[in-house]
Formats: sequence, structure tokens, C-alpha cells
Amino acid sequence: MINDLFKEAKEYIHSCYRELNKTEQELDNRLNEISKQILNQGYYKHTAEELEYGAKVGWRNSNRCIGRLFWDHLNVIDKRNLNTEEEIIEALFEHIEYATNKGRIRPTITIFSQKTPNKTVRIWNHQLIRYAGYKTEQGVLGDPHSLSFTETCINLGWEPKFGKFDVLPLVIQINENHPKLVEIPERLLLEVPIRHHHYNWFKDLNLKWYAVPMIADMILEIGGITYTAAPFNGWYMGTEIGARNLADESRYNMLPQIGNLMGLDIKSNISLWKDRALLELNTAVLHSFKEDGVSIVDHHTAAQQFQKFEEKESESERSVTGDWTWLIPPLSPATTHIFHKPYNNEIKKPNYFYQTKPY
Ligand code: ARG
Repeated sequence: MINDLFKEAKEYIHSCYRELNKTEQELDNRLNEISKQILNQGYYKHTAEELEYGAKVGWRNSNRCIGRLFWDHLNVIDKRNLNTEEEIIEALFEHIEYATNKGRIRPTITIFSQKTPNKTVRIWNHQLIRYAGYKTEQGVLGDPHSLSFTETCINLGWEPKFGKFDVLPLVIQINENHPKLVEIPERLLLEVPIRHHHYNWFKDLNLKWYAVPMIADMILEIGGITYTAAPFNGWYMGTEIGARNLADESRYNMLPQIGNLMGLDIKSNISLWKDRALLELNTAVLHSFKEDGVSIVDHHTAAQQFQKFEEKESESERSVTGDWTWLIPPLSPATTHIFHKPYNNEIKKPNYFYQTKPY
């Protein structure tokens, strides 16, 4: 175990110090220090610099992410020193405000304590901001993706509001303690009402989405150390909302209503009503975010940026790994270069991984 950890640490520190142009001396000193720490307490602590670089490289190595051109511009907030749920909740509020930045979204990660034999911090939310989903007699109300977490929140004492877009509370747990639950203050929530620039009826669907996707349930692994609570965000690519969250049959399932309102024959597959409805929904999402000054990227621009990333990586003599099934956008995939080439889905570290749900 301890040998495995030192091996992972060595690998990371080597590549990190090489990329950061550190001297052989600095590398040797640091490896000595790390081996001592591991012998004395069973684990080691990253320096602030190692932590920041690891979080960035973890993004660079995220095979499923099309937005990796900006990996080096991640804002890394080091909150490893926090010890109570209250302090962690305060830091999460700060993350939301800093990342949202009134719409000029800043890619940001806040990193809490690493996992040790006597400390584990967990954020139970999938994303810091997410809409509740309720099972009702007439089917699901809200976001079906949140059904089990919403039920968990209710069991922990959260008051359900039974709306279509209810923001869930934050749920934080340290060790085996009872999790703490808190509502996100209204003033921190930025949301975008979805409207269409020439279908006037579109706004009456009363659709909206939150501005910032902040993934909160993944582990960040750097040099054998795992950070179980390290919420991070970028900005949305339009299709995530317009071609999945609001469109999937197993999510908000809006295509039939939109198709109808567009006057399409939704009984006939060859009318391509789904495709037409999907296109207008995606146009509406991009238009609404843009008009409200909230950062968003369309899938064509995102693919071009990804191509730039591939070029830059090759200039740095690094190979790009990728998961084709996730990298292609769900709308018009073959119009992007990504569709037409193979990607190697090998997993490099540091990286972000799924972890088992605590509920
Ligand atoms: N697809 C997820 C959602 O729709 C968000 C995943 C992260 N996305 C991002 N652009 N950083 O909520």
C-alpha cells in the first residue's frame, strides 16, 4: 500500500516538476520529503503548487471533456485547511459567487481536505446547483435525474416545493457524522429564462436553466492522493442543456410540446419534427444565454477549440486521449472534425473519477 502510494507520488512529482521546469535538486529534495511523510503518517501532503498543477492536469486528462483547451486557466482555490461543515458550506457559497461572476463564468475548482484514514469530506450533491425531481401520480415533476437525491434531501428534513425548477440544498458530510443540509441563498443563483428570437410563444413554456454547471461528486486523484470533495466548473456548451437536459425523454422531454407549437406533424417520423424542434430549442438556449451575458459555447466553436487543444498538445509532445462517444456533440456530430477521427481512451493521471454515492 505504502509502496504503491510512493510509486504514484514519484510518477506525479516527476512529470509535474519536469513540466514546471524545476531542477533535479528540487525534485530529489521533494521526493525525500515525501517518502519521509509517507513513512511517518502513511500519506503525504501536496504543496500548493503541486495541488494547483494536479487539478489542471486532471482537467487536461479528462477524456470526455471537449473544453480542455482552457485547462491551464483553471482557478484553483485551496481550502484543504477547513474542518467544519459550516466552513465548507461558506467556501461553497464563495465558489458559486466567484465562478458565476455575474455571468462572465470563471472555470474554478475548490479543493477540500484529502482523504486520510481519519478524515473524509463528502458533498452529496451531483452538482452544486441542480433542480429537484419528484415522483407524482402524474409522472415525474422537475428533473428526473435528481429523483433519488431529492428523496434523500426530504428524508434529511428538506421541505419539498413541488416546482419544476426547485434548486436543491447543499448536503455536506464529514466522516460518519450526520450530514448538514443548507439552502443556497437566492442572491447566489443565476438562471437564464429560455426564449426564442422569433418564436414568441417559446417563453410561455417557462423553461429556464442555471448558468453554471458545478460537478460536486467526483474524486480528484493526484499522485496517489484522493480529494473526495473538489467541486469544479466550466461553462455550458449549449447542447448539454438544449439537446440533453431539456430534450431527453428521460429528462425534461420538451420536444413533443415544442414540435406541436411549431406546427409540425409529430405523428410522422419523416417530418423530422424531433430534429426541427431540437434545433430551435438549441437556438433558443444559445440566444438566451448570450442575450443575458452568461458565458456559453456552441458545439461548433467548442469543437474548433478542441482542435486547437489537440494542436497545442502535439506541439508540447503530449498525446491527447479522448472518449469519442462523449466528445462528439449530440447535435450534428458529423459537422465537427471530432466525428471523423479515432481517439485513444486510455486513462492518464491526475484525473477526475466517479466515486460511489454516499446515499
Ligand atoms: N452535462 C452536465 C449538465 O448538463 C454538465 C457537465 C459539465 N459541463 C461543462 N460544460 N463543464 O448539467
